[in-house]
Parts: sequence; structure tokens; C-alpha cells
Amino acid sequence: MAQVQFTINYEEFSSPEEMDPVDQKLIAEALDAQKGSYSPFSHFQVGAALLLADGTIVKGANQENLAYPSGLCAERTAMFAAGANYPDTPMVTLAIAGSDHGVLCESPASPCGACRQVMAQYQRKFGRPIQIILVGSKRIRKFQKVDDILPFIFDSLTMDE
Ligand code: THU
Repeated sequence: MAQVQFTINYEEFSSPEEMDPVDQKLIAEALDAQKGSYSPFSHFQVGAALLLADGTIVKGANQENLAYPSGLCAERTAMFAAGANYPDTPMVTLAIAGSDHGVLCESPASPCGACRQVMAQYQRKFGRPIQIILVGSKRIRKFQKVDDILPFIFDSLTMDE
């Protein structure tokens, strides 16, 4: 038996001004994307802005449904829209902002497991890391790759073993 530690490295900023201009722009787009949230049940507005390798930004927002499982998170609306409309353009960075009843969360909203798994799939598809930026009013977290928010990721290599 061995005790093993797993370490995740990420950057934390206290405001977008500390970040590079490309990230600042994407954060502004994620905040703007919250306007597209349809969240009559949770009143939790999530916006996502996905930067593609050619500079295109695809936005998404959570969409809820009376039949709860039929709704979808902001992250997946953005990734699926990009996957469908720009299938050959790699995904570079995904910024996510969540507000509770219109107030941006101090500590950033963090993607659910299903969204992380979808991010992982697009990383595999394009063979390059997708950066994740989680936007809160007090702190912003930046991860360099999906693996950092989805440790022990499900991987088909596991099935080959
Ligand atoms: N939600 C997202 O859109 N993204 C997340 O990362 C977490 C949760 C949505 C789903 C639902 O519409 C609402 O937020 C409350 O869970």
C-alpha cells in the first residue's frame, strides 16, 4: 500500500486586469453570455465563452426545462455549438461565469462532472489542451488543461489495457 498525493496547479487572480488582454476579452464575453441564460427554476445564470484557434468566440448559457434533465449547462451549449458549427477549429480557452439571482458569485462557479467529461472529449478530438477560466467577483481561477479539473479522467486507453 502507498499513500499518494495528487497536486493541481492553477493560477488565481483577483481581477481581470491582472490577466492578459485575450483572457480579459473572453471573461467579458462570458459575463455578457449570462444574458442568454434561461434559468426560471434555479435563477442561477451561467455564461460561457469559448475561444477557438482562429479567434472566433462562441458563447453559451444554461438552458433549463420543466423536465429538469432536458436542460443543459452553459459550458456544453457553447462547446456543442462550436463542435457543430466549427468542427475543424480547435478549442483554446473556455471562460465560465455564474451569477446567483443576477449577482456574480464571489468564488467562481465550477463546471459539473458531465461538462468536464465533454471538455475532455474535445481535448482528445483536437489533440491539444483546453484552458479553463472560472470567473468570480473576488477571484478568477485559470487552469491550463481539462485534466487539472478532472483528475483520473476516463480514457479509452484504460479500456485497451
Ligand atoms: N450550471 C451551468 O450551466 N454550469 C455549471 O457549471 C454549473 C451549473 C447550470 C445548470 C442549471 O441551469 C443551473 O446552473 C443550476 O444548477
